[in-house]
Amino acid sequence: MDAGELEFDNRMLDADFSSNLDDREDSLRPQRLQDYIGQDKAKENLKVYIDAAKMRGDSLDHVLLYGPPGLGKTTLSNIIAAEMGVNIRVTSGPAIEKPGDLLALLTNLESGDVLFIDEIHRIPRTAEEYLYPAMEDYVVDFVIGKGPSARSIRIDLPKFTLIGATTRAGQLTTPLRDRFGVLLKLELYTPEQLACIVQRSAGILGIEITEDGAYELASRSRGTPRIANRLLKRVRDFAQVQGSDTITSQIANYALSRLEIDALGLDNLDRRMLETIIKFYDGGPVGLETLAATVGEEAVTLEDVYEPYLMQIGFLSRTPRGRCVTRLAYEHLNLPYHQKPTPSEQMHLFDHLGGEE
Ligand code: ADE
Repeated sequence: MDAGELEFDNRMLDADFSSNLDDREDSLRPQRLQDYIGQDKAKENLKVYIDAAKMRGDSLDHVLLYGPPGLGKTTLSNIIAAEMGVNIRVTSGPAIEKPGDLLALLTNLESGDVLFIDEIHRIPRTAEEYLYPAMEDYVVDFVIGKGPSARSIRIDLPKFTLIGATTRAGQLTTPLRDRFGVLLKLELYTPEQLACIVQRSAGILGIEITEDGAYELASRSRGTPRIANRLLKRVRDFAQVQGSDTITSQIANYALSRLEIDALGLDNLDRRMLETIIKFYDGGPVGLETLAATVGEEAVTLEDVYEPYLMQIGFLSRTPRGRCVTRLAYEHLNLPYHQKPTPSEQMHLFDHLGGEE
């Protein structure tokens, strides 16, 4: 890369600071670790790392947050910066189109800052290579000029903390993954944890909700705070139009049925996905790409957004030969279940035909 590509401007920083952050969603995000509900294992370990770094007067090691979308990776990054008492710069893998974009971000950091890169698995490989020395030695090297007059220049960076977030840790290259000192996996939330989040959000938004109402909503939010908070706002609309100032379980139930979200939180696509496997592929196994083409969705959407919850509730299993629907899913969908013979039973089914042993 030459110096011409190196545009040291702050447009990307400024744009990304406020972009794609819905203000109201923002107000629901907890600011400190003590207000963050759930993810107890990740939270407790993180607290140790933060306290230790602060005691040493050091910056926190680079952190990789991974797990399904909507579980609070961005929230947690902001909390880490707040707990460390440093600034956070926010960008995402797709926003970094060329190495110059990344270099502009890195060279504008101040000592201790957090650089948050959402969807870090989508960073271009050419840019990613600049991250390795930046993360390891806090330097960037680039070449100025071309041909015989080309010179390599090294810029020292301040010590900073990179926080990468991804829905797919498996897609990160090994050199990148290995440079994170802290790996935190976020898990789907339990209905009880989500009910606490719903109560907290309702308090912030000035919405009255009963304990049962919060639990009804929580248990139909697919283990995901972002969904719970979105449904809370929609259920509030139904309550308001009905002239009720409190969300009860009856109102939540009515509103969620209107939104075609069933008792377990499955929406139309979840059901279509399960029914497709059952009706067209006899319950599976079916390959992800084939399934995606049949339901008309992208394979990554099914894998990242839909499958984690369906697997968590035991409706779907991933086998080496493809996706399979379980008996529980048949029962939930009121479809007749036929126990299928296992592969070895299938082989023996034909034994009586007198074939060769
Ligand atoms: N809002 C969204 N996620 C949250 C969480 N984990 N804790 C508290 N409030 C939240």
